[in-house]
Amino acid sequence: MISDAEFAALYDVLNPWDVKRYASDAFYHRLVMAADSVLDVGCGTGSMLHYARSQGHRGRLVGLEPDPAMLGRAAGERFCEPPGVQSARTTVEWVSGAAADAAWTREFDLATMTSHAFQCLTGDEEIRASLTAIRAALRDGGRFAFETRHPQARAWEQWNPANVTDFADADGHPLRSWYQVDAVDADVVTFTGFVSDPSGTIVRTEQTALRFLDVPTLNAFLTEAGFAIDDQFGDWDGTPIGPASREIITVAQRV
Ligand SMILES: C[S@@+](CC[C@H](N)C(=O)[O-])C[C@H]1O[C@@H](n2cnc3c(N)ncnc32)[C@H](O)[C@@H]1O
Repeated sequence: MISDAEFAALYDVLNPWDVKRYASDAFYHRLVMAADSVLDVGCGTGSMLHYARSQGHRGRLVGLEPDPAMLGRAAGERFCEPPGVQSARTTVEWVSGAAADAAWTREFDLATMTSHAFQCLTGDEEIRASLTAIRAALRDGGRFAFETRHPQARAWEQWNPANVTDFADADGHPLRSWYQVDAVDADVVTFTGFVSDPSGTIVRTEQTALRFLDVPTLNAFLTEAGFAIDDQFGDWDGTPIGPASREIITVAQRV
């Protein structure tokens, strides 16, 4: 079976942070490099902040993450910064906790939730508590940037065992992954991810629930929490949200 630490390492194989390849990563990288202090909520394995440090970000970078294995990898030894560059391992603050646990007061210019981490907030009260804590962590005028999959695109319909991904772990061992939806309950989709070895033996399963908020509901939560919508896009190139949008990309400002 694949351990939690090995599973966190596989996350990086399947989801490399690459600003040249992914418009989403380039979008966040621009915002991070322009902000003196950044709180990355649900930072996962910390790739965005490691990369920002390696690219010369000299300000305060904090990663907040509730999963111990993901956070352990963020704070671990795996990254090699070029000579003369500050080590992100030691100069980024890696903090254990969920969004609602953010306990900072007016300390950050920018907060982020990247790679659809916001969708992990499934309950109304969890969303309210998380937005309240994130807003409190921001300075006046500070911004919160995140994306959530637009429900109209029904992304979960692609998450079925017919859509497999064949890949290799960091040591070159071949693996296969796929998803299966377990339940669609109003706007919350629960699904299981599977990883198998070449013999077909399942070596890891992981169940996740994600919420697919529509634009009016999302914006009502943001307004109630004390945010104004600064920008909202349907694609990473700045296209406005329309009937074909697959994403709701939001930059909200503390008011
Ligand atoms: C899809 S991963 C994204 C990780 C990282 N942001 C990235 O871009 O690679 C979602 C992350 O959100 C974290 N998460 C789950 N529930 C959370 C919560 N309530 N507050 C903050 N993060 C949460 C998960 O542990 C996971 O690391």
